[in-house]
Amino acid sequence: MKRKKKPTKKFIVFAAILLIIVLIYMGNKENDEREKTDISNEQAYEPEEPKEPEELEKLEEAENPEESIVELEIEEPYEENPGSLAGVETPDNIIIEKPEAIDVLVNKTRTLPASYAPEDLVTLEDLPTVLVNPEVNQLRSPAYQALKELFNAAQEEAGYYLYARSGYRSYSTQEALYSSYVENHGQAAADKYSAKPGQSEHQTGLAMDITCKALNYQLDTTFAETEEGKWVAENAHRFGFIIRYPKGKEHITGYNYEPWHLRYLGTDLATEVYESGLTLEGFFEQENS
Ligand code: DAL
Ligand code: ZN
Repeated sequence: MKRKKKPTKKFIVFAAILLIIVLIYMGNKENDEREKTDISNEQAYEPEEPKEPEELEKLEEAENPEESIVELEIEEPYEENPGSLAGVETPDNIIIEKPEAIDVLVNKTRTLPASYAPEDLVTLEDLPTVLVNPEVNQLRSPAYQALKELFNAAQEEAGYYLYARSGYRSYSTQEALYSSYVENHGQAAADKYSAKPGQSEHQTGLAMDITCKALNYQLDTTFAETEEGKWVAENAHRFGFIIRYPKGKEHITGYNYEPWHLRYLGTDLATEVYESGLTLEGFFEQENS
């Protein structure tokens, strides 16, 4: 009987080398996948996704024309002021004197000093976040405590999981963000979804963009139609937040609808603003008249 030939030493060495090559290849592939995720996170550093021009045009029209007429009577519409420059005091562009005030009004005519950074910024240690940039995973301490309560209540009362995507942004981060929007979409479009440096609430450390899994953790107006978004719209004020750029008020705030952008005001003021149905601009105007 012919004996089966034993595998030679040469064959064993060859098989071992082959196995090592396969293992190295599989390891590299896994690393590539991980890198891909990290890179997309870096790209997602840009917190507010630019909208396509068609979408921007659609948003310009108020959903309910009647409501917008009533609003126009109550609240002064925002007038585009091409002459105002962030950081430069002009009659149409006021430099905010108390940027640290919890009820500070920041908008296209009220600019934060370029050097302003809040002193009580904290890292969102106990909240689920989306982006890798540590700067945006910060908020002022009272806003952070309130956001934790909001996220916990969403989970406990309704079973919804919310995610913090973009909080504090320095003047220079906003500058880079705004410039990239202008470069890619032109100034007119950029001005509808991004604040100029010094004119973003994100620089106050009191604003947070939130999202959920159904949106793949991105920022999109469809957040308003998700169960999570509806719950936030109805309950955020209980924890001190308002939806700062509401639908149908683009002519007053100067920005497109942003159902994801929460602004901390404290529970009393947030509840009053929520119940008034006004924008923050309209609310303060009514208070002062
Ligand atoms: N998207 C808001 C307006 C900001 O850039 O602050
Ligand atoms: Zn925002």
